[in-house]
Amino acid sequence: MCDERPSISSPVSATTEAYYDSPEADSFYADIWGGEDIHIGVYESETEEVARASARTVETMAIRLEGLGADQRVLDIGAGYGGAGRALAARFGCRVDCLNLSEAQNERNRQLTREAGQGDHVRVVHANFESIPGPDAVYDVVWSQDAILHSGARERVLSEVARVLRPGGQFLFTDPMQTDDCPPDVLQPVLDRIHLDTLASPGFYRKNLTSFGFEELAFVEMPDQLRAHYARVRQELEARREEMVQRCGVDYVSRMLEGLGHWVAAAARGHLTWGIFHFSKRR
Ligand SMILES: C[S@@+](CC[C@H](N)C(=O)[O-])C[C@H]1O[C@@H](n2cnc3c(N)ncnc32)[C@H](O)[C@@H]1O
Repeated sequence: MCDERPSISSPVSATTEAYYDSPEADSFYADIWGGEDIHIGVYESETEEVARASARTVETMAIRLEGLGADQRVLDIGAGYGGAGRALAARFGCRVDCLNLSEAQNERNRQLTREAGQGDHVRVVHANFESIPGPDAVYDVVWSQDAILHSGARERVLSEVARVLRPGGQFLFTDPMQTDDCPPDVLQPVLDRIHLDTLASPGFYRKNLTSFGFEELAFVEMPDQLRAHYARVRQELEARREEMVQRCGVDYVSRMLEGLGHWVAAAARGHLTWGIFHFSKRR
């Protein structure tokens, strides 16, 4: 990916990079979330393993890409440890670029990809999705899970997605959002957990993606899964508290338990939502 455009990134990106690169966050996400996937799960029961439910989210999204060929290219923006990229490459034989800001996560992604023998199909790229390296109209699919919330320049991310997708290409993503009718100023404790200024909403994505030339194919909205997921992660952290205090320190674990509690409470009040958005770029 060689590129001569200037690289642009919002001030929030530096905070996010430091957050995900910290050894505490790396340990928390890898150990408690389940290793390969660090997004909201689709649960079949309240006691299901976080990793199993998280893998089901990838499967549920991937069904929407049925027919994707081995000659097609996917870009995963905010790819974390690359679980989705490896799953898509294994399922469709396609090539996947995993673009991600955190080099700590990228290193683990490269190692997991090597161990899976998928180095020919999955490439890991250290970059900011507010300024995607590479030429226009090269990807058939842009994929993203629970990552765009971290941007301080979300319109810019969406315009970059529109730029790198070929006409007719698909944009499939999830993001924790505030509801369209969320009252102002009730989400500060939720935002504080991961150092955000704002959250997007379904209305924000619909309006902006329409203006960037996309057509909405589906929005499978599942706010109950957001609430279930953060409750389940909190329960897991509570159950392994001593072990995680050894690894991440008492302050990190206490702050995380409190922060996760705010997410569960805000979801129960109907202020948060989450789901699978599927758009296609008009030809
Ligand atoms: C909750 S994690 C989700 C990771 C992955 N999509 C998954 O589902 O397993 C959010 C990810 O977004 C990435 N991220 C946040 N801001 C980013 C940016 N500006 N550019 C690229 N990646 C970013 C983080 O490094 C992190 O990997």
